Amino acid sequence: MAAKEPIGVIGVGWVGLCTAAAFAELGHEVVARDILPEKVESLSRGEVPIHEPGLPELVQRNAERLTFTTDIADILDRTRLLFCCVDTPPTYSGDADLSRVERVVDELGESDEHAIVMKSTVPVGTGRSIKRRREALGYVSNPEFLKEGSAVEDFMHPDRVVIGADDSSRGFADRVGALYESLGGPIVRTDVASAEMIKLASNAFLATKISFINEIANVSEELGADVNEVARGMGLDDRIGPKFLKAGLGFGGSCFPKDVSALKQLAGNSGYAFQLLTSVIEVNDLQKRRAVGKLQKYLGSLVGKEIALLGLPFKPDTDDVREATSLVLAARLQGEGANVRVYDPVAARSAADMLGGSKVCDSALEALDGAHAAVLVTEWPEFAELDWAGDVKQRMANPLVVDGRNFLDREALREAGFTYEGIGR
Ligand code: UDX
Repeated sequence: MAAKEPIGVIGVGWVGLCTAAAFAELGHEVVARDILPEKVESLSRGEVPIHEPGLPELVQRNAERLTFTTDIADILDRTRLLFCCVDTPPTYSGDADLSRVERVVDELGESDEHAIVMKSTVPVGTGRSIKRRREALGYVSNPEFLKEGSAVEDFMHPDRVVIGADDSSRGFADRVGALYESLGGPIVRTDVASAEMIKLASNAFLATKISFINEIANVSEELGADVNEVARGMGLDDRIGPKFLKAGLGFGGSCFPKDVSALKQLAGNSGYAFQLLTSVIEVNDLQKRRAVGKLQKYLGSLVGKEIALLGLPFKPDTDDVREATSLVLAARLQGEGANVRVYDPVAARSAADMLGGSKVCDSALEALDGAHAAVLVTEWPEFAELDWAGDVKQRMANPLVVDGRNFLDREALREAGFTYEGIGR
């Protein structure tokens, strides 16, 4: 049997580490490079710095095939397919910041034996402009569609694998395609610009679906409908589907907010005003603040009120608080004069310095003790398992729950004497 293609990974953040570990699991030698020596050292000891289910096991199980280095020469010597996984955060203007990608391209030189395989999310046109500068280098667009919290599962069971390459890089694209063959998902072979657009359009569409259901939720509240019932009925239509129809306090994370604004910006730069995306962003910004109005409805002024925020990350099973609703809410509530206490099972300590004057608690019960209201921000299972009717009710100064994810048992809470406010019901 032919030896498996060795893989280079550049940038060992969340995407890079998931990619490196998953390819090692598939039997490839992987050389992964990061510029931070501390990170490389701790990864070499098998320490995984992020909360991602299954990832530490993957890294430890495949330690023999995984090398971490700070030296780009190690990668260039030992591998030919160089997966670029550096981050592309938004700039103040909403454009994607490509400086890290540019730095990688600068380091790679002109070898026609190597190809850059772009996993980082980049604006449409990036591949073309890199190719213009580095004609000899192969270029393959291979966007990632991993969800935080289920990244390992998503990698191993892809809905689709997208591979974009132009004629001169076709051979490299075949080699990238071969890496994924054993996984069985459909492989979409296309040109570079279309591959880049598939990634942005997919995330923008999903974000649109969320903002849409959130608006339906807000109108349902006014008109007496229940958004959960509405979503259930809508989702049974094959053309709509049941996923991404959960109303809540808006989307966050490292991808949706950045990719929606990058696509809007990209369209604007090309002379087209993408009006739908402007609304998707605005609806989401307002949705993140929606719990404030709900608290005021029952408590009046929030000055001096003790408010417990349950959950910090933008969704459960991650410690990622980028663009998390909790941060916006904590700031807004403090702005209204409330005293905010937060609890999160994994992210509270690491996010403490982003929470301004909020008190970070060691347990949900500590946060709820003496609180005038609880706001559930992240649907961690442990919040549903709290003894709401007993311990929690006794501890809170006032039994008001704003369930920002429609996650708790509304009937049970009401029966126990709580005032329960969900989203859109
Ligand atoms: C997303 C994409 O799903 C993934 O394909 C891409 O590669 C990266 O961005 P991720 O950021 O991990 O993944 O989060 P995801 O699970 O998609 O959720 C994003 C946000 O939307 C969360 O804040 C979540 O709470 C919110 N959401 C999701 C809703 O509010 N309602 C829903 O129905 C679904």
